[in-house]
Amino acid sequence: MKDALPSLTEIPYSAYTEQETFDREMETLFQGPVWHFLGLASSIQKAGDFITNEIAGIPVVTVRSGVEYKAFVNRCVHRGSLLCLEQKGKIDQFSCVYHGWTYDLNGNLTGVAFERGIKGNGGMPKDFNKSDYTLRELKVEVFCGVIFGSFDKKIAPIESYAGLEITQGMSRVLPKTPILIGRTSQLIHSNWKVYVENNHDSYHASILHSFFTTFKLNRLTQAGGIVINEAGGSHISFSKRKQETDDHAYDSEKLRSNHEEFGLKDPGALAFIDEFDDQISLQILTLFPLIVFHQISNSLCIRQIIPRGVKQVEIVWWYYGFEDDTDTLRSARLMQINLVGPAGYISMEDGAVGEFVQRNAYYSEGASGIIKMGGDDYKSSPSRVTEAAIRGFWKQYHDHMRC
Ligand code: FES
Ligand SMILES: [Fe+2]
Repeated sequence: MKDALPSLTEIPYSAYTEQETFDREMETLFQGPVWHFLGLASSIQKAGDFITNEIAGIPVVTVRSGVEYKAFVNRCVHRGSLLCLEQKGKIDQFSCVYHGWTYDLNGNLTGVAFERGIKGNGGMPKDFNKSDYTLRELKVEVFCGVIFGSFDKKIAPIESYAGLEITQGMSRVLPKTPILIGRTSQLIHSNWKVYVENNHDSYHASILHSFFTTFKLNRLTQAGGIVINEAGGSHISFSKRKQETDDHAYDSEKLRSNHEEFGLKDPGALAFIDEFDDQISLQILTLFPLIVFHQISNSLCIRQIIPRGVKQVEIVWWYYGFEDDTDTLRSARLMQINLVGPAGYISMEDGAVGEFVQRNAYYSEGASGIIKMGGDDYKSSPSRVTEAAIRGFWKQYHDHMRC
């Protein structure tokens, strides 16, 4: 029988500092029944096209084998060298630089240099059979032009894994095949879960981020809500741009982030073209455990979270648009990249607070953080003044880690 579910409202700081926990996450969670981001389907359109990426530090290569998408751990079966060294390219076969072993695009070992030795000397034993060796393959699914991979061959398809509302939220920001328009990467000195919690935390956004609040891009008084899936760990937080009537809620809280007196000379970063025709100008969507899809005005992005040990996490920001973007829309997307990423007007503060939390986690023996805003459940709600989505993340996290 499984142990009782740990508390969802009090998270011990040791969860962010223990090597043993991280080692179990690598084994049980990241290589378990969860989906990971591998890349955009538009990046590998022809047979032999490949892209490389990582899942929690494990190198992965995704390739078009005929019309199929295949993904493998980017590791030679011989001595474990990387197979594909480039970020992208085109190949007829995988060929290892170390001792020249080759594989077809389905991951089968096809060639061993000097397999029979030279003039009867050396070489592999007679009973060595190449067909016994294949690259470690991942299960792949392409959904809305995004390639997902999992180490678990029996994992549920994306639609049932995420649930109807989350997949609708993904389709909303991926109505056409996405194309890459930019990429940045950022190293944050915190445990990966601190960053994930930050993405599930609708409570902080308009308080921490001065840019959001001052320019009314996101305030808790705006129409919006939180949608959390049944498993708990995937969610959507959204809001509509319409100017709210109740500005006084912020005045009376005397928040650091609220500066009525400021304006921008160039309002380009604030522009909002209602491209999805629903007035929603902000949608943060998490797909458990390591993927975030964001729409901030017209900035569309897939944030790939790459845990790098107990106290470091890398975020790769895959900014995307669509082939038929108008010039105005494409320039809005490019301009609004300034809002996010490592030095983003909004996102830089998330990196900073993550490091503040991590710094204290090491000296908080036995103490826990409090996640009680909005109650103790992880239900969807029309209010974003809640930490329900963070509790939902922990619910699903514990379900996986207890397996
Ligand atoms: S490690 Fe790849 S051929 Fe030896
Ligand atoms: Fe934030």
